[in-house]
Amino acid sequence: MTIKAIILDLDGVITDTAEYHYRGWKHLADDEGVPFDREANDALRGVSRRASLELLMGEAIARYSEEQIQELMARKNAYYVAMLDSITPADFLPGAWELLQEIKARGLKVAIGSASRNTMTVLTRLGIPDFFDGISDGYGVVRAKPAPDVFVYAAGLVGVPVAQCAVIEDAESGVEGALVAGMVAIGIGPEERVGKAHFRYDTTAQVNLEEILRE
Ligand code: BG6
Ligand code: MG
Repeated sequence: MTIKAIILDLDGVITDTAEYHYRGWKHLADDEGVPFDREANDALRGVSRRASLELLMGEAIARYSEEQIQELMARKNAYYVAMLDSITPADFLPGAWELLQEIKARGLKVAIGSASRNTMTVLTRLGIPDFFDGISDGYGVVRAKPAPDVFVYAAGLVGVPVAQCAVIEDAESGVEGALVAGMVAIGIGPEERVGKAHFRYDTTAQVNLEEILRE
């Protein structure tokens, strides 16, 4: 079936905010004396703020009250948001800006499908708050990735049936959500992380739209 819309994840696909999310969680983990490293962080990619905290804390989360959990999430977000101040339009991941241009040049709809509630801040820092035909972010749906909701909502925003959408994702949870949504899944990253996708590239710069649209 012809692809008519491309839905892109934001963090780790368009810009390297996945690294800032890692540093924010690492800072919090160090504050709380919880072990955390880059390998453990891979499981947090694409995962909502609360679910990330639950993964990070493991069973220890049971010792925290709801108020304390809210404070932990707010603290990590403050660490993260402070790092966003340094983002400029020069901070697209290699090939990301060119990919966005190519999607539009081919007459396809283009949308964001991100779990992040900081999506608009990041897009504004990159200088593209108005570029997309639809923005589906952490405020639009209740069920986070790996649920398909964030992508299905994006498809609705751009008026394209799910079977004619393709999703570009760097997270295992995002690839899973795209597959459950019945969309073409394009994974960015290693086989162990995004190998279930229909197409896989090591980096955003290597995404080959020609190859994907040919299918
Ligand atoms: C996803 C990131 O895009 O958004 C996750 O991959 C992050 O790492 C999630 O936890 C939620 O982001 P935020 O900005 O709402 O805390
Ligand atoms: Mg991501």
